[in-house]
Amino acid sequence: MSGLADLLAAKSGLRMHARDGLEFDGVPLRALAETQGTPLYVHSLDTLRRRFGALRAAMGPIAIHYALKANATPAFLSALAADGAGADVVSGGELAAALEAGFPPERIVFSGVGKTARELAAALEAGIGQINVESPEELTELSAIAAHLGRAAPVALRVNPDIEAGAHDKIATGRRGDKFGIPHDMVADLYAGAARLPGIAMRGLAMHIGSQILSLGPYRAAYARLAALAAELRGRGLPIAALDCGGGLGIGYAGEPAPLPEAWAGAIRGALGDLGLDLAIEPGRWLAAPAGLLLTRVIRTRRAGMERPMLVLDAGMNDLLRPALYGAWHAILPLDPVALRAPAEPTDVVGPVCESSDVFARERSLPALEPGALVAILDAGAYGAVMASTYNARPLAPQMVIEAGAARPARAGQER
Ligand code: LLP
Repeated sequence: MSGLADLLAAKSGLRMHARDGLEFDGVPLRALAETQGTPLYVHSLDTLRRRFGALRAAMGPIAIHYALKANATPAFLSALAADGAGADVVSGGELAAALEAGFPPERIVFSGVGKTARELAAALEAGIGQINVESPEELTELSAIAAHLGRAAPVALRVNPDIEAGAHDKIATGRRGDKFGIPHDMVADLYAGAARLPGIAMRGLAMHIGSQILSLGPYRAAYARLAALAAELRGRGLPIAALDCGGGLGIGYAGEPAPLPEAWAGAIRGALGDLGLDLAIEPGRWLAAPAGLLLTRVIRTRRAGMERPMLVLDAGMNDLLRPALYGAWHAILPLDPVALRAPAEPTDVVGPVCESSDVFARERSLPALEPGALVAILDAGAYGAVMASTYNARPLAPQMVIEAGAARPARAGQER
């Protein structure tokens, strides 16, 4: 036994059919790979909706603003908009995509350290619900733009709470010295000044401390800081209506335990629930990651002269960057039911790109797989297709969307 069956059992939505092989929400993946070719992203609306429903039930009155950066497949966006989600956007492009997908402008929040004057103006013109301002300099510029347009910009100040969080150095965002947010000790004075600026309507505070967070401690510490700041603002008689608690909830990529949304909601309510403020979160990964996978085929199995077998896949770091960029661990499963239970041996899994970092896994316990074998790289629904590039002149992989047991094209691949 390779442990792959256990891994599969931990992944909802995936099932090994004795004849058809691996299925994602009832759709046999082998048939998709045969007809569409590989590499191929498969995104499931069913899983996304299931997860949104579970998150909404856990959060109660806490509003959910989906972070589009995780996966902006139009079908995902329109499904979430239709189900009542709001959106967290970080560029003019994401703002346009959110509006196009039907998110009501008042439920869209704009985050990011480098919003351009043009993007800020577009957000104001669209009647966006909140702009999370990340620096005093941005605030001054937004005030001028809003005053010029004759609008009142709804502003939350993004607090940098100086808290360590996130699975990897490259995805921690809330430490002093990270580029994000305003140092927490200067927020109250800035807020007081902001309330007097033309074109600015202060709404509250925002915070996002990192991504792939697997323990509640950092959240609790950050929310305590947010609560103290909110109390200070109130004490000074300043208007405050809303707190944006950020995203970051992690998932168990390797089947490891991860906090449930109920526990996250409990941490939010525990620290901030009694303040009588509108509360919101900005999750991306938790909703989208398990709702997507990358289908790929073994091009070559190298054994000659190698310490251990090496699978060379037809997907590379240009298709799924996370392992190369963060050393991220993604489950890799064969589509073949026999292979799933075959004896396993440590195997390296790499892509074809001309970079030493184009490695999906080292010493991964996998059965012997020969050229032509199909595998699925799981939990690729967040920060997968959206981070793809055409490096090495490799065309962007096509995407399919699964809904109610059927698959349809979501985005064509590129010709080359
Ligand atoms: N809000 C803000 C302001 C953010 O910067 C982010 C993510 C989110 C919400 C959503 O965080 P999530 O719930 O998805 O953790 N590419 C990296 C992750 C980068 C996250 C950047 N910011 C990865 O593949 O792990």
